[in-house]
Amino acid sequence: MTPTEAPRVVLGVGGGIAAYKACEVLRQLTESGHSVRVVPTAAALNFVGAATFEALSGQPVHTQVFADVSEVPHVRIGQEADLVLVVPATADLLARAAHGLADDLLTNTLLTARCPVMLVPAMHTEMWEHAATRDNVATLRSRGVVVTEPASGRLTGKDTGKGRLADPAEIVDLARLLLARPDALPRDMTALHVVVSAGGTREPLDPVRYLGNRSSGKQGYALARAAAQRGARVTLVAAHTVALPEPAGVDVVRAGTALELRDAMHAVSPGADVVVMAAAVADFRPVTRVEYKIKKTDRDPDPVGLTRNPDILAELVAARAGGQVIVGFAAETGDGAADVLEHGRAKLKRKGCDLLVVNAVGEGRAFETEDNAGWLLSSDGSERPIALGSKVHMASEIWDAVVPLTQK
Ligand code: CTP
Repeated sequence: MTPTEAPRVVLGVGGGIAAYKACEVLRQLTESGHSVRVVPTAAALNFVGAATFEALSGQPVHTQVFADVSEVPHVRIGQEADLVLVVPATADLLARAAHGLADDLLTNTLLTARCPVMLVPAMHTEMWEHAATRDNVATLRSRGVVVTEPASGRLTGKDTGKGRLADPAEIVDLARLLLARPDALPRDMTALHVVVSAGGTREPLDPVRYLGNRSSGKQGYALARAAAQRGARVTLVAAHTVALPEPAGVDVVRAGTALELRDAMHAVSPGADVVVMAAAVADFRPVTRVEYKIKKTDRDPDPVGLTRNPDILAELVAARAGGQVIVGFAAETGDGAADVLEHGRAKLKRKGCDLLVVNAVGEGRAFETEDNAGWLLSSDGSERPIALGSKVHMASEIWDAVVPLTQK
């Protein structure tokens, strides 16, 4: 791919009910400037017609190697791709891919692709947990194929469990990460339990108002998502966020206020290998919550009064045991006293964590944005910039720095 060309994605579609969600993935990819060639299996066309894929992709759709033979599509499509993404990857497709079968256009494409390959499974829990599927997934992963963790939730019928297709927005996020950095999702966190906090706390003033902040939760969710796909056991302690899909394969614990977040973090962090405080915690809370809606005509203009919240990160650092790695975040603006990095260095010392991710905020940066940039400051004195990229891209850079610390 030259820098001016649209990234070329092959979107394989397996024959499962989740095939209809591949249309949403296709739509999001084409709208963000990707050239997408859809290669369904014959079974996938029982769920979504070829005309739908052709209309949404603007490219021809075939399932077999005998269409347009003069173009040698069974070799060319795979060779020319920048990413092969399969949504959904059924148990049958995982088996055929693991065994190197080449009985249709999609499996031929998987054999000729030299680019990153990402398979997004969806199937019933029993099929996902079957020893045959486990072995096929392990084989594919050992060859460098990214087989993502399925989500838990409602399956085709009334049943629920692990095996649900990851959310389309999450699939596109991970696909774009692999296009930017093909090596961004190694299986190097399988031995780790990580705890990530995300979002902004809200401190109620009365039944209708709260003290809050502009954190969207996207960076914390991206950290949880990337860790789960690198094989970690992940607990996400989520405060208030904008509407975000729950990351697939992650345990989510909800917390509203700073004190609830503190309790949740102390409950889940002991024994974890890594704790990341990406949540934006309110520094103050009302001394008392007023039970009625405060009226502007109330004689006391400040009927609430504020008190300081505990510093959860500092408490976690004080309580840690057994080489636990702790990562903090700092969203800073420079001021008269110091610039962003100087504030970051002072905060790293004050908090006592191992790594501090410093974001410069203001002017449309960090909060309520899709992309992020910053610095990674380490307690050993090393500092490195993180280039502007998606939040899951920043998450990968953070995990790249964290994983070696867990091996010390
Ligand atoms: N943090 C925390 N508990 C708080 C406040 C912050 O655990 N009560 C954590 C955040 O999750 C983040 C880090 O501390 O990882 C830095 O947050 P920040 O708000 O920048 O730090 P403060 O301690 O509030 O420092 P200051 O107000 O001086 O900037």
